[in-house]
Amino acid sequence: MTASAPFGVRIAGSGSAVPDGVLRNADLEKVMDTSDEWIAQRTGIRERRVVDPANEDNVSLGTASVQNALDDAQMQAADLDLLIHATVTAEMTCPSNACRIMANLGGIPSGAFDLVAACSGFVYALNVGEALVRSGRYRTVGVTGCDIMSTVVDYDDRSVSILFGDAAGSVILQRDENPKLGCLYQAMHADGRGWESLYLPRRDREVPASDLDNPIKLGNLRMNGREVYKFAVNKFREVIEDALTQTGLAVEDISQFVCHQSNVRIIQAAKERIGLPDDKVYINIDKFGNSSAGSVGLCFDQLWKSGRINRGEKVMLIAFGGGLTWASSVWQL
Ligand code: COA
Repeated sequence: MTASAPFGVRIAGSGSAVPDGVLRNADLEKVMDTSDEWIAQRTGIRERRVVDPANEDNVSLGTASVQNALDDAQMQAADLDLLIHATVTAEMTCPSNACRIMANLGGIPSGAFDLVAACSGFVYALNVGEALVRSGRYRTVGVTGCDIMSTVVDYDDRSVSILFGDAAGSVILQRDENPKLGCLYQAMHADGRGWESLYLPRRDREVPASDLDNPIKLGNLRMNGREVYKFAVNKFREVIEDALTQTGLAVEDISQFVCHQSNVRIIQAAKERIGLPDDKVYINIDKFGNSSAGSVGLCFDQLWKSGRINRGEKVMLIAFGGGLTWASSVWQL
């Protein structure tokens, strides 16, 4: 939908957090039949960050990321009306991680809820948060995406576990009197018919017949890599072309395409099909792997803090993931 409401929305600050723990391809070589060369060639990943489960979790990483964004915005948690926390690795289904993050930060009694859209989670949450501020219902909304994928992959499964890492990224959205600021176009899509390509079963009955010979344990991510690869390459192109058509913008008008980091080959394929220049597509998958809902927010924060995206510019955020879901968000910063 295009924007036509009374208020604009500015990104008042951005933040991120990653654990100190680094899991390199060389470390994986010691525990499974793989190689740095195979992983780097097939995915572009060299290392990823992982939590220390004894001391870190989704709530602590999310708290650090939101605090980092609040610091950047020169705000406090009490300034937030609402926090939306996108994740598929919440500590519990009740309470939400968002409630505990706000308690940690002292942002009581602001609204807080978790949102589940897998790797599309940050872009979904950003779109929801922006619409709530633009409508005038809320003045200041925190949006965060955080996943600790290292806790839900089976390191006996070399085709899934090598891809994922842990990270969080956040932004603070604030009402602005200039209605031209904020999201120019957003799209959120899902096709639940494809759920069996990427899912996290908790009980035996959730494993579909087509996957019964898959040896991955319950509580760990199952993935049909080839299916997801095809889906991602197609949707990546579709979502960018749709957003450009709907906004009437050209590739030259967008300063950065902030893309979910799933596999460098998926990003390269989409870049080639649409003709996106290298310097407009940020890549950090080599250092962080795929951090699911953490990925797009982490990229945004690194671009923002390094001055590669600035106020006055237009950016497009794009993601796809389990569900299957896919989403875009075009911004006038
Ligand atoms: N190290 C070494 N060999 C591996 C391996 C690893 N970590 N993982 C798989 N292999 C092997 C397979 O066993 C297979 O061997 P075989 O030919 O003897 O049977 C071979 O490599 C090819 O496997 P395949 O699954 O066809 O590889 P691929 O080229 O499709 O790459 C992925 C696998 C997972 C990297 C790729 O499918 C992918 O990135 N998919 C998208 C995943 C994704 O982005 N998920 C998140 C979406 S948000």
